[in-house]
Amino acid sequence: DWTPNSFVEETVEGLKEKIGNDKVVLGLSGGVDSTVAAVLLHKAIGKNLYCIFVDNGLLRKNEFESVLKQYEHLGLNVKGVDAKNKFYSALEGEKDPEKKRKAIGKVFIDVFDEESHLIEDVKWLAQGTIYPDVIESVSATGGPSQTIKSHHNVGGLPDYMKLQIVEPLRLLFKDEVRRVGRSMGLNEELLGRHPFPGPGLAIRILGDITAEKVRILQEVDYIFIEGLKKSNLYDEVWQAGAILLPVQSVGVMGDERTYEQAVALRAVESTDGMTADWCHLPYEFLAKTSNEIINKVKGVNRVVYDISSKPPATIEWE
Ligand code: XMP
Repeated sequence: DWTPNSFVEETVEGLKEKIGNDKVVLGLSGGVDSTVAAVLLHKAIGKNLYCIFVDNGLLRKNEFESVLKQYEHLGLNVKGVDAKNKFYSALEGEKDPEKKRKAIGKVFIDVFDEESHLIEDVKWLAQGTIYPDVIESVSATGGPSQTIKSHHNVGGLPDYMKLQIVEPLRLLFKDEVRRVGRSMGLNEELLGRHPFPGPGLAIRILGDITAEKVRILQEVDYIFIEGLKKSNLYDEVWQAGAILLPVQSVGVMGDERTYEQAVALRAVESTDGMTADWCHLPYEFLAKTSNEIINKVKGVNRVVYDISSKPPATIEWE
């Protein structure tokens, strides 16, 4: 019978045997999957696990600093790398969603590769890949259920990184990953975090990316997510976030006519991200959130709520 405890025990034993005294490098994303994978490996091989956490400039507000602290608190051997400007340069002027993903994937691999070369004699690359990632990237190779978006966190390893791959969560679904994390004592806040895409806010800023657009979206997202937490709605929702639309609309403030950005809020219920329904968030909550966003975030004068389900819409807008 599968239980989180027996999974941890067997996996840690298996990892010890497989890896021995070799060094392993792992990219932390701030999400549940890579964190649980890291803690499992840390149990098995301790300081021989080298974690790298890259700031791509596309994370949520304050996320890099606060998550890095949590990792250190967990005792992980982790290095935070500020690569914001590299990502922004690679994205400059790029409007095409798939090209944005590819550009981000490429810079990530470059940065990660550079960092792994600094670890002497590293032999393994660990990844927090879970079962749905495996299926989605297999179906991307053809067949009727073709994936429409390239997920940069599966495959795509450059040849020059001659590392063996270890993926301890490869056979688990998300809820199992959470149970495993819980059985290893990870805190509920960390385990309950909504999924967040690898390309981050870049695929929630429709059109080209600038540091200023990222800042605006971070503020909007922060108000929405903190509001969900304060209203005890965060855990009811599978994933939520805000989207910066490439649309300006007319508004009025005092006697002045404004012409500013519109943002969309998105919150969905799902079990695995493959299908999703939009959440019927309370009107009072939406009203309060909309007011707060428009009052506090300079440059935004309109908020809309996305009421599309997947399929035929996707969770992200790009
Ligand atoms: P879609 O938009 O395809 O999203 O309905 C399904 C789930 O996948 C996440 N997502 C991504 N995750 N890299 C990722 O790591 C990506 O390029 C990517 N695109 C979408 C999305 O946030 C949702 O949880």
